[in-house]
Amino acid sequence: MSAAESATQQLVWVPKATEIAREAGARLKEFFIQGVATEYKGDVDVVTVADRTVEKLIRTRLGEAFPTHGIYGEEGTRERLSGEFRWYVDPLDGTTNFAHGFPQFCVSMGLEHRPEGKTAEDEDGTLVAGVIYDPLRDELFTAERGLGAQLNGKAMRSSKLPNLAESLIATGFPSRKRHSSPNVHFYQEFTLRSHGVRRAGSAALDLAYVAAGRMEAFWEFNLNPWDTAAGILLVEEAGGRVTDFNGNHFRLDSREILASNGLIHDELVGLFQDMFAGRDLAPIPTAREYAEQRESQ
Ligand code: IPD
Ligand code: CA
Ligand code: CA
Repeated sequence: MSAAESATQQLVWVPKATEIAREAGARLKEFFIQGVATEYKGDVDVVTVADRTVEKLIRTRLGEAFPTHGIYGEEGTRERLSGEFRWYVDPLDGTTNFAHGFPQFCVSMGLEHRPEGKTAEDEDGTLVAGVIYDPLRDELFTAERGLGAQLNGKAMRSSKLPNLAESLIATGFPSRKRHSSPNVHFYQEFTLRSHGVRRAGSAALDLAYVAAGRMEAFWEFNLNPWDTAAGILLVEEAGGRVTDFNGNHFRLDSREILASNGLIHDELVGLFQDMFAGRDLAPIPTAREYAEQRESQ
């Protein structure tokens, strides 16, 4: 038996979670094809009937499969949160894409183990399972702690590229409190120092792609546990690393996430430190400076 086959036989949560994610993904795909109306949670923060319907579906299915497990979902589900296990569920990560017909979104489900009597309310447990499903590409990213990460059942590893200069990386921007986000400065700096920065609009898929070796790194400010729980485990089990921007241990309520293939992590942390200290920035012309050059040509 190959190592991958033996790991598959030991999986505890992924088989059932996969079934649920596939059913949820199929519903998302139907809604996507048929088209849905957009509603607003904030100025530009959108939600659709698909987000709510699919969260309800996942809540029901998880409750049937794991009746003692807690569920913490983006669209408001808060169930059995004092239990030993807790699922973080984003029924539709990439809602803005979805609402515009842009084909990049997924279902994300991450399972945290919070041993009774040992995990204080404000403490993280251990992420033990993660499933991210992209229904349009039929790509299923899975991991269980200690058993590696898989893409459609085959082992996946993060990339072996050792430097930022040759890397492809990703980020995202918040839809709430956009005026207080400094991320565009980091976007500029990382763009100038790498092969490019993608902003594809689904943080969970960004993390899954780092795990799959399609990109070397991903960072974002102000994500929530439902965006990151599954993807963090995928990255770690694929050989990568996840921290905050100082290189410190990542917590589910950290307002900063930096995930990478591990090999370029220290270089990225160094760049964050330089930027936070205002050192070593690569200048580009302002729009006004550019306009002056343009007029003089
Ligand atoms: C969003 C996506 C996006 C990220 C935003 C998230 P949602 O999640 O992951 O890539 O940039 O910060 O809020 O709202 O589509 O579930
Ligand atoms: Ca999300
Ligand atoms: Ca969502």
